[in-house]
Amino acid sequence: MRLDHSTLHGSLQDPVLGSIGFLNVVMSRYPDAVSFAPGAPHPVFFEELDTNRYTGRFLRYLVEEEGHKPEKARRMLYEYGPSRGLITRLVADALRRDQGIAADENAVVVTVGAQEAMFLVLRALFRSPEDVLAVANPSYVGITGAARLLDIDLVAVDETPHGIDLDALEAECQAARRAGRRVRACYVAPDFSNPGGSRMTLDIRRRLLRLAELEDFLVVEDNAYGFTAAADAARPSLKALDRDRRVVYIGTFAKVCFPGARVGYVVADQVVGSPGAGDRPFAEELAAVKNMVTVNTSPLCQAVIGGMLLEHACSLADLSRRKADLYQRNLACLADALDRRLGRELPGGIAWNRPEGGFFIRVTLPVPVDDALLETSAAKYGVLWTPMSHFYLGNAGDFQLRLSCSYLDPEQIETGVRRLAAFLRHETGGWNGSAAG
Ligand SMILES: Cc1ncc(COP(=O)(O)O)c(C=O)c1O
Repeated sequence: MRLDHSTLHGSLQDPVLGSIGFLNVVMSRYPDAVSFAPGAPHPVFFEELDTNRYTGRFLRYLVEEEGHKPEKARRMLYEYGPSRGLITRLVADALRRDQGIAADENAVVVTVGAQEAMFLVLRALFRSPEDVLAVANPSYVGITGAARLLDIDLVAVDETPHGIDLDALEAECQAARRAGRRVRACYVAPDFSNPGGSRMTLDIRRRLLRLAELEDFLVVEDNAYGFTAAADAARPSLKALDRDRRVVYIGTFAKVCFPGARVGYVVADQVVGSPGAGDRPFAEELAAVKNMVTVNTSPLCQAVIGGMLLEHACSLADLSRRKADLYQRNLACLADALDRRLGRELPGGIAWNRPEGGFFIRVTLPVPVDDALLETSAAKYGVLWTPMSHFYLGNAGDFQLRLSCSYLDPEQIETGVRRLAAFLRHETGGWNGSAAG
């Protein structure tokens, strides 16, 4: 049977769904290029992973601390499991210890990556076509793609270096109300957004929570990159500041452990009430949705992550310290190489931001940055990056590209920036500077 693409779900025509596949194809065609494209963790950390040891550690925990018989504990790793997960207590402990989030384990759902958490939260929260999701523009494709799959309308709110523009967000809430709609939730990544690299100040965090209360929306907080903050520069998450249960907090072990585990989590402590059924945490509703999506997160993968947490006394900070150091070093190497090879704020219109953490730097060019320019960069100069337009709603970001530093070593970063400088010098026409070396 031949299927006409136009008869499939409308999201499949949205470029956002194709963007990750497109980048993978380009990367596979140019294996020798230095790739600033993937926001993937550095592979050096996979060398030391001993999944058997972690699984064994988690089995001991099930027996010694949760009181299961050894045979039962073993079976728990192989059977279907509870839809909220096997490691909810460990996750709740870790969040309490490191993030100051007083989450009850009953409010935690362990998910197949942060991606599933986004899908579950949106599915459960959005009831009618009048409900809209506000996102910072640019935004992570995982959230905009999930919204498209679910036919949820988005409102794009400009991002400043200090996170989503609160005045614009307030204006969008009011405009939605005038149009008979409502901003049901707002997705933000307060600590180093992907791809913008923005970070909210403490004051903006507090103001966002006040606005959420005033305009009656929920905040969906994604904290994938918070761990990359320098040790002396941590700021409280929105969830840690949340006194009104307004924040649904999404986390992932993709970066602090490894992405192949596909383990993430969501803290959903909102109280859901209905006549007759009594009150229960929103997490239970998410678990009900999960039952119809992935049923449960792989118990074996949870055991590996659980073992890693236990080896680090349930401290996410301890678990991620070496990784945070490496990403801080790489980000500094990338910014430093850009400074040396391109100079700052070039008259030709080339500029870039300097995030304090996260994986990404955004570069603005004097020429449109599209997929064709990426092909040129890959084929002629051996350097890959991501066009920022993939992350924008509407026609914005056409003059920007994203560089990711997470996957590379300092020498590769240096080589990549040298190639990038040659590419910019010859292809953008806006810069006459020389790229030494
Ligand atoms: C902003 C953001 N959230 C979440 C994730 C991780 O998602 P997952 O746990 O599904 O791999 C990423 C990974 O790239 C990300 O950039």
